[in-house]
Amino acid sequence: MSLRICFVAAEIAPLAKAGGLADVSAALTKYLYAGGHDVRAFLPCYATLKRQDLPMRALPGLQDLPLVLGRYTYRFSVLTTALPGSGAPVYLIDCPACFDRPSIYTADPDEHRRFLVLTHAAFIACQHMVFAPQIMHFHDWHTAIGSLLLRSNYAWDRLFQGARSVLTIHNIGYQGIVGASELPEVLAGAPATLLDPGELAAGRIGLLRTGITLADLITTVSPTYAREIQGPEYGMGLEGLLRTRAGALVGVLNGVDYDEWDPRHDHYLPQHYDAQSLGVKRALKTQLLRRLGMAVPEQGTPRSTPLIGVVSRLVAQKGFDLVFDALPRLLPAYEFQVVALGTGESGYEEFFTALARSYPTRVYYQRGYSDELAHWIEAASDLFLMPSRYEPCGLNQMYSLRYGSVPLVRRTGGLADSVQPLRVASGGGTAADGDSAADSGTGFVFEEYSARALAVTLQRALQLYQEPRRWQALAQRGMAQDFSWARQVQRYVELYERLIML
Ligand code: ADP
Ligand code: GLC
Repeated sequence: MSLRICFVAAEIAPLAKAGGLADVSAALTKYLYAGGHDVRAFLPCYATLKRQDLPMRALPGLQDLPLVLGRYTYRFSVLTTALPGSGAPVYLIDCPACFDRPSIYTADPDEHRRFLVLTHAAFIACQHMVFAPQIMHFHDWHTAIGSLLLRSNYAWDRLFQGARSVLTIHNIGYQGIVGASELPEVLAGAPATLLDPGELAAGRIGLLRTGITLADLITTVSPTYAREIQGPEYGMGLEGLLRTRAGALVGVLNGVDYDEWDPRHDHYLPQHYDAQSLGVKRALKTQLLRRLGMAVPEQGTPRSTPLIGVVSRLVAQKGFDLVFDALPRLLPAYEFQVVALGTGESGYEEFFTALARSYPTRVYYQRGYSDELAHWIEAASDLFLMPSRYEPCGLNQMYSLRYGSVPLVRRTGGLADSVQPLRVASGGGTAADGDSAADSGTGFVFEEYSARALAVTLQRALQLYQEPRRWQALAQRGMAQDFSWARQVQRYVELYERLIML
């Protein structure tokens, strides 16, 4: 059955990307479209949009439309383009008052209104195109209000009468909490009874909370995270509400778009490799070390110096406070190198900057965002570090597996669902190159959120690296894993189909 799906998100790669949300929105749109579904994706026309070579067309009848949100009147137009590498239609909401800013996200006082405009504009565009979606799929706090709009503001329109709403939680750490003084803008005419009265009494409106309350189906991006967020440690205050909606909450692990992330054809790499040609990976490592001005281990011995890769937003979620102690302690004691790419909170940036200054040939840190370097790090590194405090899914560990860069992760969320802990059959932790054929698992996994647990696991990895056959077999088991979207997208289609039968 071909479905009509309206997909509304704050990020879609490569047009607008701050993190994994962009990769997932793009892949879902692309694979749904390839599966024959009529999927239409809505995205803000940010000033920072990667518009090179992007053919954009203004949609007649959808120019300079007014939108009244409480005390504010916005004007927007709709442009259309095709998702690069796919052809799926993307509708860009052009509203300079909202999106003509230096970055995708801002700390401006109207941040929530920017995304209210996006979500309303998606409904209004559907009306003008006479597109009757069966599924309206919203993502994170930015567009979570869509479930309320479907039940209230646009419920009068027969066009939406068969539509069901899906809310995907990519990260419960960002909830879109606004002051109750914004009530007229958030509701835009909808009754306040749709909002949580306790929250309102406390002077707040939670946009994600509202979406969780009203969505027909709630998904999150891994089965483990779906369980975790129903408890106090990970629920961030929404655990009680999520437990009441447990029957409508499903965890679907994200997939990987192997068209973009596969060392067999990665277009950022000058040479390609697979599990049978790991010599190319070693050559790429040498090239990257040279390019970054790092020490190149002597010919013939590069295997003894592992390269640890980091590509991450540098925020508390990602757990890098655990390395503040471990890396400075282990660097003098073990032969290894680190290449880190990331930007975020200053404490983390300063830590990596200082470490690179202390060990200029062994540690490289690039503060900022670079797709190209991100791909190179996956290809060149031997070990990939993700010590997350919490991780709804995480994509880089799955990319790393395919690139033969062994992930070292904390057992949480999607990391727990995608990396199988290494089990060494015999002779592990010794200098002897043991019988790797009987080993199992794809990475290093630690449980307790502590610097000690991370350091012990990192030491274990550094020691195992000295057993080349065993290490190679470990990397090869990871490379054979398949997290392709082609399969995961089917899970969404099944969920959509079940929902519209209700
Ligand atoms: P999150 O969405 O929480 O940041 P994910 O692991 O789901 O974490 O996705 C992160 C995505 O963003 C990956 O595609 C990763 O390569 C990319 N990324 C993160 N930081 C950077 C950076 N500084 N430069 C380039 N890509 C980055
Ligand atoms: C969020 C999460 C990350 C997840 C991504 C895509 O940003 O932090 O774990 O992979 O969304 O779903």
